[in-house]
Amino acid sequence: MPATKVDDRVVAGQAAYTPLVLKIYDWFVLGFSNRLLWRCPTAALRALYAANVSACHLDVGVGTGYFLDKVRWPAAKPDITLLDLNPNSLDAAATRIGRYAPKALAANVLEPIQAEERFGSVGLCYLLHCLPGSIPEKAVVFDHVLAVMSEDAVLFGATILQGDAPRSRAAQALMNAYNRKGIFSNAQDSFQDLERELNARFGDVKLRRRGAVAIFEARRRQGPRGKRSSTTG
Ligand SMILES: C[S@@+](CC[C@H](N)C(=O)[O-])C[C@H]1O[C@@H](n2cnc3c(N)ncnc32)[C@H](O)[C@@H]1O
Repeated sequence: MPATKVDDRVVAGQAAYTPLVLKIYDWFVLGFSNRLLWRCPTAALRALYAANVSACHLDVGVGTGYFLDKVRWPAAKPDITLLDLNPNSLDAAATRIGRYAPKALAANVLEPIQAEERFGSVGLCYLLHCLPGSIPEKAVVFDHVLAVMSEDAVLFGATILQGDAPRSRAAQALMNAYNRKGIFSNAQDSFQDLERELNARFGDVKLRRRGAVAIFEARRRQGPRGKRSSTTG
């Protein structure tokens, strides 16, 4: 845990990831929920990692380390840093990808990131919906990762939305239950807010929906024809 006191709502957003929950996480979230509830197959998120990881990668909100384990890295010895507030997640992911000797940072991403390195890629997969507040409030995370991104770096990730995101009754019921417990805090999260906050900070933003999930890729630099933003809402 970080030295500074962490807000109770922030604690709730990471407290669910006990060793037991992490044992069933891949099966329940990445297997069952992604396909049948959120309607965003895990294959789409694996493709997102495959398209974007660099040889110097920061992953924020690491869970079990599933994507870091499965992706093909562009270097034999990628330099990987794991950042998470929950020591169980850090341990699980660090053990799973121990072959790459990752570094681990126990920290709250709502605070500035204490890292000397400048990363070529930053992954934020299924993190934002765990953080309290509205998207404009959570967007401070984008400022924190921007500060440790190299000039050409890419930020990529995915988050489960409410707003007008399509959801079955079962999906809505589970999302409501998670929101009541503070595991999710996405009651106010909309595609439009996410689009606005990314475009306010990045010159090149790609954002699309897959079921109830928004998938994003963002680069600091503008493309050759000026500001590029592609949205598939
Ligand atoms: C839903 S899991 C996502 C795991 C993985 N990225 C995936 O997509 O399968 C969310 C992770 O974010 C972490 N987390 C939640 N709030 C955090 C915070 N404020 N700062 C850093 N990590 C946080 C949790 O501990 C957990 O490991």
